[in-house]
Amino acid sequence: MDRAETPLAQTSDSMVAFESVTKRFGGSNGQPAFTALDGVDLTVARGGITGIIGRSGAGKSTLIRLVNGLEKASSGRVVVDGIEVGTLAETGLRDLRRQVGMIFQHFNLLSSRTAFDNIALPLEIAGMDRKAIRDRVAPLVDLVGLGDKADRYPAELSGGQKQRIGIARALATEPKLLLSDEATSALDPETTQSILELLKDINRDLGLTVLLITHEMEVVKTIASQVAVIDKGKIVESGRTFDIFTAPQHETTQSLLSAAIGAKLPEWIRADLKPQPAPGDRALVRLVFFGETAFQPLTARLVAEIGPDLNILAGAIDEIAGEPFGSLVVSYAADPQTLERAARFYQQTGLTTEVLGYGA
Ligand SMILES: Nc1ncnc2c1ncn2[C@@H]1O[C@H](COP(=O)(O)OP(=O)(O)O)[C@@H](O)[C@H]1O
Ligand SMILES: [Mg+2]
Repeated sequence: MDRAETPLAQTSDSMVAFESVTKRFGGSNGQPAFTALDGVDLTVARGGITGIIGRSGAGKSTLIRLVNGLEKASSGRVVVDGIEVGTLAETGLRDLRRQVGMIFQHFNLLSSRTAFDNIALPLEIAGMDRKAIRDRVAPLVDLVGLGDKADRYPAELSGGQKQRIGIARALATEPKLLLSDEATSALDPETTQSILELLKDINRDLGLTVLLITHEMEVVKTIASQVAVIDKGKIVESGRTFDIFTAPQHETTQSLLSAAIGAKLPEWIRADLKPQPAPGDRALVRLVFFGETAFQPLTARLVAEIGPDLNILAGAIDEIAGEPFGSLVVSYAADPQTLERAARFYQQTGLTTEVLGYGA
């Protein structure tokens, strides 16, 4: 029997669970298989916005395509709202895809259809009658702020407006989960922010769970309360976005974030940094602290503790998923005494620190 008809009791608060999921491509005709996902364990909280970040080729799209059954796991389980996707037959998959909306980087609109008719498409496919479709689509056009554009064709609309159609179309079947595959990657920064605001509103107002994948840290930082970092098919770090972004543990996370979060170092300084100090070198260290008010006293105490030799290279107050924090990039002599004094101070104050490198 089709598993969609016998959903498991919904005891957990996770909307999606990946359990030891591995996905291999190829491997036939004597070719070695390519492992795109390798033992992924991850849960996506119900009602939240979860981001998955990673470089190009890390396995993000493959991961998200397992959720609506566009790909099938080679081993392990993908469970969506209590139902194991891998066990679903044709009708079960069709039901699942009505429950799971998806938006794309290049919008995937039909150019021969108006905005309205693009949004209506999934409902036509589902066999809904004309009147019911109109009743469903008209409020969606308003929801995404395209009230006056319903009769326009995609070619007449901006990128942001096209993505708004994509979002309305994804919502047409009243899904409980929205998947976003790089939905803002083709948009300029300002349009990106407006689309992210719309996704935030939809998450809050409709209680829709959002799972988004992106290579843009800015996207995760702006809207995702939870994040997982994927690298070469493995989840290397996951948790609250604020925690992960202010104290990244894995080097992939650190390098993805170093350019995007808080105080930034000019590239010409960054390019010359070495992993180990040579005699006479200075240590370049990023300090992260919480609450904007900590800025002034911290700077004064740093100078008092580390000495007048301390140099402030960059500083910023930033915000992650709505929570403020500050960061400073400082340098000081990388001699054993100074490093020791600094380490003691960081330990006493509980400051989060990251050594960016050493240089002259
Ligand atoms: N259908 C496929 N056949 C063979 N290899 C694939 C297929 N889909 C993806 N891959 C490979 O899997 C890896 C991860 O791809 P993808 O999930 O698209 O990464 P991302 O979305 O993070 O850029 C890439 O090396 C890609 O070439
Ligand atoms: Mg991709």
